Amino acid sequence: MIVKEGAGESVTGPMAKRGIKRFMKKKIPLSFTVNGEEVELYISPNRTLLEVLREELELTGTKEGCGEGVCGSCTVLCDGVPVRSCLTLAMEVDRHDITTVEGLGEQGEPDPLQQSFIDHGAVQCGFCTPGMLMSVKGLLKRNPAPGEEEIRRGISGNICRCTGYTKIVEAVTAVTTGSNRKNHEG
Ligand code: FES
Ligand code: FES
Repeated sequence: MIVKEGAGESVTGPMAKRGIKRFMKKKIPLSFTVNGEEVELYISPNRTLLEVLREELELTGTKEGCGEGVCGSCTVLCDGVPVRSCLTLAMEVDRHDITTVEGLGEQGEPDPLQQSFIDHGAVQCGFCTPGMLMSVKGLLKRNPAPGEEEIRRGISGNICRCTGYTKIVEAVTAVTTGSNRKNHEG
């Protein structure tokens, strides 16, 4: 690895490693929006967005499954686009807008998508649910009326070991077609 220091000089070997360690220990300022609230804090440059959300901000709705970008349980929205927070460095979201599952509904007043998941049995152990919801939210922003194939593609990066996915697809379809709302009104 080559690290540039000073006036363009290249430094390699133990000196470079010491420089990197010093940089990692140094805290850097981070400011971003989470669920509509502005947040400012100091973090080590190697902290992931997932760590900052869960450990610094106590937003533990976002789950850590694999920790390496495979399961999708850590999915949040960054400027409306689903991202895996375990693979995203917190410093990458500086000045961006993050939405986590806590930003979807209120206590006792869930988001229609959350309600539909409940109504259709699309939540079983619930571990995948926050990431699944955020992936679906991202999909619905891009395409408010996805068909079954598009829904399945939209959640293809989220692993669920309990539901077999069919109930999740039904829950999303009920929201996009308005049938869940009718059930609640009727
Ligand atoms: S915890 Fe991030 S993808 Fe599995
Ligand atoms: S509800 Fe258990 S993993 Fe999806």
